[in-house]
Amino acid sequence: MASYQQWTLFVSLLCLVSATMGAPPRKPISVPFGRNYQPTWAFDHIKYFNGGNEIQLHLDKYTGTGFQSKGNYLFGHFHMQIKLVPGDSAGTVTAYYLSSQNAEHDEIDFEFLGNRTGQPYILQTNVFTGGKGDREQRIFLWFDPTAAYHSYSVLWNLYQIVFFVDDIPIRVFKNSKDLGVKFPFNQPMKLYSSLWNADDWATRGGLEKTDWSKAPFIATYKGFHIDGCEASVEAKFCATQGQRWWDQKEFQDLDANQWRRLKWVRQKFTIYNYCTDRVRYPTLPPECKRDRDI
Ligand SMILES: *[C@@H]1O[C@H](CO)[C@@H](O)[C@H](O)[C@H]1NC(C)=O
Repeated sequence: MASYQQWTLFVSLLCLVSATMGAPPRKPISVPFGRNYQPTWAFDHIKYFNGGNEIQLHLDKYTGTGFQSKGNYLFGHFHMQIKLVPGDSAGTVTAYYLSSQNAEHDEIDFEFLGNRTGQPYILQTNVFTGGKGDREQRIFLWFDPTAAYHSYSVLWNLYQIVFFVDDIPIRVFKNSKDLGVKFPFNQPMKLYSSLWNADDWATRGGLEKTDWSKAPFIATYKGFHIDGCEASVEAKFCATQGQRWWDQKEFQDLDANQWRRLKWVRQKFTIYNYCTDRVRYPTLPPECKRDRDI
């Protein structure tokens, strides 16, 4: 008969295994902004702290600002820790996304739509493949994203694109090439982030305007490490394709625990899903077949 000690050891090992399985194993490493990123525009609206390990984007009535990765990447796991604009952020949009820089571009988007003080942010996600987007999903978050840093990440391999919020999958875009849907696989992408005024659409569909007396609006970032396969812009494949951790079996699909969490997000926090919008799409977009069973 197993002793109590053996039993507790067994249980704690079990917990350890189930806690680490499937979840992206790498935690963001602290590196300064300048290692992997550079400002895109309005350089003076980016402020640096703690040796560049932490930055702020400032939006005022003159301009917003943004930054981008120096490198281009084909597949990987891309993290950012963000503390969104606190207080009255109505009309502002903070975005964190991957995008290729050509006409028929691929893009993977997180967009945070601000709100009046005390009203919830919306997180909108979208996926463009071969220049085609219109795949919006919108959720409320289960925490106040302005009170502390939270991690927002994208896992991208040949099998799937997964959006994570604090390691909880909030969206999966499966490779549905077999259904005739393009999947990003041969156009290297850069990472981008920006903060700008979008009060023509962002908050309650544009009804709530930006209150400039509350400016500057400030979003704070850290965690500038990038875990991806770096490639030149023209590269059609990654030199280490298939060999990196994000390519391995356990990252080719969500595990049972992750599916459960995604279902929880679906049931409790989803506001909009293009896959269920029958007015806009009388015929279901093909990739939505893979979205239905969630
Ligand atoms: C802002 O708050 C209102 C009222 O709670 C809500 O209807 C809306 O979805 C929220 N978010 C945005 C970005 O409009």
